[in-house]
Amino acid sequence: MQIKHFLQFNDLTSDEYEHLFERTRRIKEQFKAYQTYHPLHDRTLVMIFEKASTRTRLSFEAGMQQLGGSAIYLNTRDSQLGRGEPVEDAAQVISRMSDIVMIRTFEQEIIERFAANSRVPVINGLTNEYHPCQILADIYTYIEQRGNIKGKTVAWIGDSNNVCNTWLQAAEVLDFNVHVSTPPGYEVEPERAGLYGTDHYEEFRDPMEAARDADLVTTDVWTSMGFEAENEERMRDFADWQVDGDMMRVANKDAVFMHCLPAHRGEEVAAEVIDGPQSVVWDEAENRLHTQKALMEYLLLGKITG
Ligand code: CP
Ligand code: NVA
Repeated sequence: MQIKHFLQFNDLTSDEYEHLFERTRRIKEQFKAYQTYHPLHDRTLVMIFEKASTRTRLSFEAGMQQLGGSAIYLNTRDSQLGRGEPVEDAAQVISRMSDIVMIRTFEQEIIERFAANSRVPVINGLTNEYHPCQILADIYTYIEQRGNIKGKTVAWIGDSNNVCNTWLQAAEVLDFNVHVSTPPGYEVEPERAGLYGTDHYEEFRDPMEAARDADLVTTDVWTSMGFEAENEERMRDFADWQVDGDMMRVANKDAVFMHCLPAHRGEEVAAEVIDGPQSVVWDEAENRLHTQKALMEYLLLGKITG
């Protein structure tokens, strides 16, 4: 079987997502009913973190254990990765001792080089450019809450970062629209976002206009990991790009609010929104677990049913 990696959202087709969403539903249902499901018995996941994490580490580690396998955590501080071992060499070695690898790192190029030298599937657990596991969970959450996302409008308010880029890729794969509003100077870079065209998104100067009539409103921190040196400047530049109650009121009445977390109340989102009735952020976080279990099952075992 050819190795399949999940390095960016458009590595999988809409049919494959269809399968993953169906498997997620089933795996979640079994988990909630305390039914043991160990298809990955004796398989080992290696998780490499070059940046901090709560949700990604927890959901992958717990998920692999729940599927009957085990997970090993490596970070840059106390492995040879932080001492300049070439990523190609690390990939050769790590992939001979494990069945699947998840990496959180800086440039996308690093994970691409790792995957090119890996004998086993590699999953992107966040890079500067993309966060595909997050959007997999987000779209599953939307489907669970509201049904098919095809033809719907997602409003992205804030930084055109890794999470935004992945929403834009997902819109192309799953055929929905994204209305993006970023401060001047932080606009979407289509090439960096890995987009095929500009058909599935529209940019708005005014965040209220981006949110108008949206089915889903979402945002993320103003300063992503790795960009901390720009923090002060970003606080000033993004001050008008907060998702607040007024913004939610111009969206569709049944719009949901999502945030990948961690969140900063009073910065990119008002407390009344993230803690309000339209917010689905806790389901969204929980679904990281269920969707990634379906993803690992698929990458290791192919399309299984049942
Ligand atoms: N949303 C997300 O990836 O969270 P962590 O940084 O805690 O993994
Ligand atoms: N855009 C954020 C997401 C954190 C999960 C970051 O890269 O820091």
